[in-house]
Amino acid sequence: MIQSKITLPDELQRFNPVTVIGAGTIGVSWTALFLAYGLTVRVNDPRPDVKEVVLNGIDQIKPTLKALGLPTEGLTNRLEIEPDLDRALQGAAVIQENGPERLEFKHELFSKIEKVVSKETLLLSSSSGIPSSEIAKGMKNPERLLIGHPFNPPHLVPLVEVVPGEHTKDQAVQDAITFYRALGKEPMVLEKEIPGFVANRLQSALFREAVNLVLEGVVSMEDLDRIVTNSIGLRWAVGGPFLTFHLGGGKGGLPAFLQHLGPNLQNGWKNLGNPNLDEANVQTLSNHAMNSYGNVPIEQLEKSRDQKQLSVLKMLKDQQSSR
Ligand SMILES: NC(=O)c1ccc[n+]([C@@H]2O[C@H](COP(=O)([O-])OP(=O)(O)OC[C@H]3O[C@@H](n4cnc5c(N)ncnc54)[C@H](O)[C@@H]3O)[C@@H](O)[C@H]2O)c1
Repeated sequence: MIQSKITLPDELQRFNPVTVIGAGTIGVSWTALFLAYGLTVRVNDPRPDVKEVVLNGIDQIKPTLKALGLPTEGLTNRLEIEPDLDRALQGAAVIQENGPERLEFKHELFSKIEKVVSKETLLLSSSSGIPSSEIAKGMKNPERLLIGHPFNPPHLVPLVEVVPGEHTKDQAVQDAITFYRALGKEPMVLEKEIPGFVANRLQSALFREAVNLVLEGVVSMEDLDRIVTNSIGLRWAVGGPFLTFHLGGGKGGLPAFLQHLGPNLQNGWKNLGNPNLDEANVQTLSNHAMNSYGNVPIEQLEKSRDQKQLSVLKMLKDQQSSR
């Protein structure tokens, strides 16, 4: 492999090379970010068009990497596509797994992985909701397995939820934090394992009510999205739900807010919807989505999302020193 000019930062030396397993939405995004930070990346995915998918994906992500101030020249010089799992794992310092979200799949995969890699290899799964203790069942050496759950797209959104399992050693947690921080991410360690972790549970609670409101005909899908981006979406980019309501309580902060509005809030929880994602509702939601967004190619929507997201991130970075 020819080395490109990008130099690997000192803090990433011991995490090189990385094997990315699964080259879908998340795997390709991680791959592009890892390469931009100077890591050598081996990608493993059985899909026949894997090379095309990865190369096209990286090309599409390059403008965002550039806007983040990262190098984009010669990225693929350190990229290898290796369809054979055992060969893809040889010598890996880190595994970032992004295969299908099925427990049996991840279970079987990590049992195979531990037979090939060294005991020092950091084993990270991007799973959006499966605790690593579940994945680790039956593994002989689960001490270095944990969840490193990104938010889509990982090359851009800062959060990575770091979720150790019952057998994960502290050192592996520390290594995951160091690894993700060196990649410009904001790793957050959860104190307890819970299916869906934190960000997705919150997202899911809001999505449940969003689905309910659209199915009940209260608001169109597009208008609901606009309501969110013009209110809570804006707010939550600068302060989470607790800080928001701390400020909603005036001088008395959250205690005053809960005293004043808590009972009504709790009463309202009883009226929240509990929609079914059955065939008919999925069809209705799909029709709404196609009517609202179907006339714009996904790549264009992704590009527009990334540009706006970059502006928000840049603005927040500029404001970082003030609280
Ligand atoms: N899409 C998201 O928004 C998102 C966000 C965070 C985390 N995740 C998690 O990331 C993981 C991947 O999600 P995705 O959205 O990228 O899925 P995806 O369907 O886009 O990609 C999955 C990839 O895994 C590949 N694959 C299938 N069998 C494989 C095998 N045996 N070995 C290696 N690769 C195999 C598929 O060919 C496919 O390319 C999941 O665990 C998901 O929960 C997804």
